[in-house]
Amino acid sequence: MKRIICILCLLTLALTACSRREAVEERKLPVVGFSQLGAESDWRVANTASMMQAFSEENGYELLYDNARQKQENQLVAVRNFIVQGVDIIVIAPAEETGWEAVLQEARSAGIPVIIVDREVAVEDTGLYLTEIGSDFLSEGIQAVTWLENTLAASGRAAEDINILHIQGTYGATAQLLRSKAIEDAAQTHESWHIVGQLAGDYTESKSYEVVREFLQEHPDVDVIYSENDNMTFGAMQALDEAGLTYGKDGDVILISFDAVRKALQYCMDGKINLCVECNPLHGPRVDELIRQYLKGETIPKQIFVEETVFTPENLTPEIIAARQY
Ligand code: AHR
Repeated sequence: MKRIICILCLLTLALTACSRREAVEERKLPVVGFSQLGAESDWRVANTASMMQAFSEENGYELLYDNARQKQENQLVAVRNFIVQGVDIIVIAPAEETGWEAVLQEARSAGIPVIIVDREVAVEDTGLYLTEIGSDFLSEGIQAVTWLENTLAASGRAAEDINILHIQGTYGATAQLLRSKAIEDAAQTHESWHIVGQLAGDYTESKSYEVVREFLQEHPDVDVIYSENDNMTFGAMQALDEAGLTYGKDGDVILISFDAVRKALQYCMDGKINLCVECNPLHGPRVDELIRQYLKGETIPKQIFVEETVFTPENLTPEIIAARQY
């Protein structure tokens, strides 16, 4: 009897798998394996939602999704699983730039195209992926330091000694490497700019709060905080509040933040954050479009940067904030 039940179960499973495969074939649903690096920030949550929506069944996809919880080794396991399951296309939002060569080669050997989204991968053979789509993180950083230079000049502080506290995102991530490069390069060319601390905030609010609070206990003399994402800025604001230090437009500490999520824009319009450099997370429809182009055999550019802007209390309006999707 047991044996009959087992056979029936196996038959049911096989039939379900068959009918799913047939359904996939009939409706030609491309199966996408998406390896998301984590859920560390508001930006990331918005990015995941955008990708999930783009790869929904209603939109013609079957999605295999994995959240790597900020660990690249988890991403490597996820991508290998996608390869074993024979997905049609792999999309990776990589935690770090290095360490991708082997797994990308495995995907290529299996004939599965790979799209890199958000951050980049550093591989010698760029033929290992179809395209990279994301932000121009260096340009974001340069916009931030240019704004700082102009703002200090406009307030007669161009020659004044300026102490900069730099809160860094996950080490080795493109967003960290290039935003850090912008401020480090600028400090080299501005004699009066001093980076008095570089703290590891890992793109999270809690880590940033912890490291900034500790730092301020010893070094409260900070003129600028250059924080590589909004959540780390929120953590720094809490630490500044507790230390009794003022910040923002009428405060002692200038706050520069990256991402421009709605909550940060609201703080900026209220004068609590001086500058929000936009980093757009809504990549889902863009990657969807790239996949469609690829499936039609169209040529796809190797690298695509999305358009982004900067916000200050002067150019923000309630309408801009209300229209923000994230
Ligand atoms: O790679 C983009 C960065 O990653 C965003 O600035 C940050 O919020 C996210 O965690």
